[in-house]
Amino acid sequence: TLAPELKDTSPEKLLAPVLSAFWDEDRSWTLDVYKRHEGYEGLRKALAMSPDDLIAYVKDSGLRGRGGAGFPTGMKWQFIPQGDGKPHYLVVNADESEPGTCKDIPLLFANPHSLIEGMIIACYAIRSSHAFIYLRGEVVPVLRRLHAAVSEAYAAGYLGTNILGSGLDLDITVHAGAGAYICGEETALLDSLEGRRGQPRLRPPFPAVAGLYACPTVVNNVESIASVPAILHRGKEWFRSMGSEKSPGFTLYSLSGHVASPGQYEAPLGITLRQLLEMSGGMRPGHRLKFWTPGGSSTPMFTDEHLDVPLDYEGVGAAGSMLGTKALQCFDETTCVVRAVTRWTEFYAHESCGKCTPCREGTYWLVQLLRDIEAGKGVMSDLDKLNDIADNINGKSFCALGDGAASPIFSSLKYFREEYEQHITGRGCPFDPAKSTVWA
Ligand code: NAI
Ligand code: SF4
Repeated sequence: TLAPELKDTSPEKLLAPVLSAFWDEDRSWTLDVYKRHEGYEGLRKALAMSPDDLIAYVKDSGLRGRGGAGFPTGMKWQFIPQGDGKPHYLVVNADESEPGTCKDIPLLFANPHSLIEGMIIACYAIRSSHAFIYLRGEVVPVLRRLHAAVSEAYAAGYLGTNILGSGLDLDITVHAGAGAYICGEETALLDSLEGRRGQPRLRPPFPAVAGLYACPTVVNNVESIASVPAILHRGKEWFRSMGSEKSPGFTLYSLSGHVASPGQYEAPLGITLRQLLEMSGGMRPGHRLKFWTPGGSSTPMFTDEHLDVPLDYEGVGAAGSMLGTKALQCFDETTCVVRAVTRWTEFYAHESCGKCTPCREGTYWLVQLLRDIEAGKGVMSDLDKLNDIADNINGKSFCALGDGAASPIFSSLKYFREEYEQHITGRGCPFDPAKSTVWA
């Protein structure tokens, strides 16, 4: 299913940066540097189109949401009703919190103007005059950088009234959250932005119909919006020449764990973990891959058997997981899978918002069982109990957090049941925690 371009596996072809092209340049976050790298050129092209043509263009490019779900971006914009007399809003979800995911925050830190330019284009398309950036609260340096970039954009006439003489008026508000994982769920984010406790709303209605202040709202991920200017400037055909047919384009992968060179890697969708590891220096010397996540801990884990799965929505889906946020967390043979799953489950139990019973009670119960097994106090029937509890969370919870919590339980029991059994029969963990630097 790979596009012909991906058959050329030379590093130059596979790692052709767009969003991260000048991250290491001096003062890369400033307007001057951005403009030296095609900055605000896409906006000029967008403003020369009608809003409807612009939406059609982004739809044709095949851009899919980079926050995890892969929903087509142009289609989401098209859902916004026109002529309804209500204000329309764009809300950028910058509450990046999925374990292992580290792409939006570095992007905002190094290149905030790509997001601001993308937001202006999106607001022109959906006929919005007020947009928000909901930023993860812990990243104060990024908050400062975003404020500075927005101020620069106002001063240069890219924000405010009659932008570039087009008649478009737009204000951007930067809002910092308070550090709750659930506020990355789009409707909890909207509640939080409105000043309420962040808990998911019932969907439908989707935000496109009733979002911020009950008005039609597009909620898009940072990377999705930041990808739009290059699509406009270089063309939808250029974008479609990368990646696979149903998942075109480039994207940012977060590579972490027991790898030689962790970091953000920009490459086309459809690349494989084997290719990424070959180009980035592989696993840490003397060690081999044991298990990994294609899209953060909420996506079912893979093993070394899955090294050649194309990292696009279809390829990862067909192999039994989800592309999610493209957070490739790699663990070597020194890692205890039970310990890793316990750590993740503790995270979900802590971050569960408590609104629905399966997730609130189930994640707590999973943690108790996992801690017992890891400490050598488990019994064999606990394994079926783990599966049973996860089954009662998965698909029966109010939002995707519950499904995410169930997924490492299912996949670890599928691939590593023997390791769980070893903990029970051996009355404890067979791994030396000092050797696995990830958990040190
Ligand atoms: P979803 O598939 O329910 O929705 C995706 C988007 O499409 C949403 O914006 C939704 O409003 C829109 N949509 C779907 N159907 C629609 C319809 N009929 N009409 C109008 N709009 C519609 O996925 P969800 O629950 O929004 O996100 C789950 C994903 O989030 C997971 O795949 C996970 O990977 C990712 N995630 C990302 C995190 C991060 O830090 N970036 C954190 C946790 C999860
Ligand atoms: Fe809250 Fe968890 Fe229910 Fe989502 S699944 S609404 S996070 S309790």
